[in-house]
Amino acid sequence: MIYFITSNENKFKEAKEIFAEYGIEVEQKKVPYPEIQADTLEEVVEEGLKSIDEENVFIEDAGLFVDSLGGFPGVYSRYVEDTLGNGAVLKLLKDVKERGAVFKSVVGYKGNGIKIFTGKVEGDIAESEKGTAGFGYDPIFVPKGFNNTFAEDFNLKMRLSHRKQVMEKLAKHLSGKD
Ligand code: IMP
Repeated sequence: MIYFITSNENKFKEAKEIFAEYGIEVEQKKVPYPEIQADTLEEVVEEGLKSIDEENVFIEDAGLFVDSLGGFPGVYSRYVEDTLGNGAVLKLLKDVKERGAVFKSVVGYKGNGIKIFTGKVEGDIAESEKGTAGFGYDPIFVPKGFNNTFAEDFNLKMRLSHRKQVMEKLAKHLSGKD
């Protein structure tokens, strides 16, 4: 049994489904930990994990990095989502043709030591919000090679997402397949 320390129910549900494919049981634990202000998700995760006095646990930090905005909102994704919302990102990209973006997820796992894993999915920012599934930036993110946002096609999100990639890496590590 491993524990996902998060207060985000959506993230937990996604992770649980991915780990189930590997026969690994995951439970949610709500333990407060500091989310430092840093330039990378990796630093945020490493620092957070150091302050958690438990084993067989992992934490995750994710962000949306928009190419034409120099990677913004990136490590500030949560703050921008909570204060301004998806509409603000769409506004910043009004009349901008280059709409490429990357969703990135970093997981820190504490077993015998600390291991860091990264998952990414490339895509484009839609012209408007579409769909009701998922959470956060899902209604404005269209993965490369597809036409629907993650919020319009949740199965697609579960197949391709940054979280899928990163949780698979952790699952393979735990099953000794990496
Ligand atoms: P955090 O990892 O909880 O700090 O998330 C940072 C921000 O990115 C939050 O505003 C989340 O809503 C958003 N976010 C994280 N993961 C996803 C996702 O899978 N889809 C859409 N938005 C996400």
